[in-house]
Amino acid sequence: MDNYPRIDVTQTRIWKDEDRVAYHMRQFDEAYRSSVHLARFIRRLPVGGGEALDVGCGAGANIYHFSRLLPGYRWTGVDIAGDPLFALGRAKLKAASIDATLVEGDFYRLTELLPGQQFDLVLSVQTLSVVADHEAALEQLLAVTRGWLVISSLFSDVDVDVRVEATDYARPANSQGPFFYNVYSLARVRHLCERHGCRDFVAEDFEIDVDLPRPTVYGLTTYTERLADGRRLQFTGPLFQPWKFVAVRVGPNEAEQGEARMQGVDHDG
Ligand SMILES: C[S@@+](CC[C@H](N)C(=O)[O-])C[C@H]1O[C@@H](n2cnc3c(N)ncnc32)[C@H](O)[C@@H]1O
Repeated sequence: MDNYPRIDVTQTRIWKDEDRVAYHMRQFDEAYRSSVHLARFIRRLPVGGGEALDVGCGAGANIYHFSRLLPGYRWTGVDIAGDPLFALGRAKLKAASIDATLVEGDFYRLTELLPGQQFDLVLSVQTLSVVADHEAALEQLLAVTRGWLVISSLFSDVDVDVRVEATDYARPANSQGPFFYNVYSLARVRHLCERHGCRDFVAEDFEIDVDLPRPTVYGLTTYTERLADGRRLQFTGPLFQPWKFVAVRVGPNEAEQGEARMQGVDHDG
């Protein structure tokens, strides 16, 4: 574990910045289209409820919406920006009678933060692309998964990793970044997951189904452009955003679970 990286001071400051609070809180009013489609993607998997973890949960807006969209889970969330986000998020969750545990900490150290805990569903939504070392983060995600790990991130169909460090001069002087928008080779991510016990790997492109207007103030704002066939491409500032949903099964499949039950073997230890 000691070889694992830690989030650095600059990234911690960026994510804890007060001017990010509005981004997290407005998601409670209406789930992003990506969250609605991610829930649809997960519902097609053979998932059956239990313990769920949202890594990089922000103020808990995805936990709030997924509690309704994907019933049957008890949620835990982890985020480095617990202060300032969790007090606001807990109030929203409590008002909706959602019993979730929010833990402040670095997701490079999940196994230390959540000792001995294993989850049936682990979510990493728009977080892998924003970290400096995605392989270390992935290993930690896989280490706490006993069922499905579901990732929404930027992936490439060609065997190329792209590291993007963006500085946003449209933001206040002390919070211009750098922000990572890394794109990872899907094949390499798959191989890493397979080296760590992945038994199934499902990937799907996410194509947004609403228009997002071009911003009037240019910076790292997300907007869409229409293709001639009506499909939409997403951009953030000057960057094309190849979003995909990826599901990685770590635990036994349904047939194996049934067989184990017949033989009296407990797969969860
Ligand atoms: C782009 S936001 C996505 C938030 C949320 N998942 C969503 O879908 O809106 C990335 C989140 O990851 C968190 N984060 C970034 N690096 C982290 C780290 N090393 N450990 C824990 N959280 C981290 C940030 O505080 C932020 O809430």
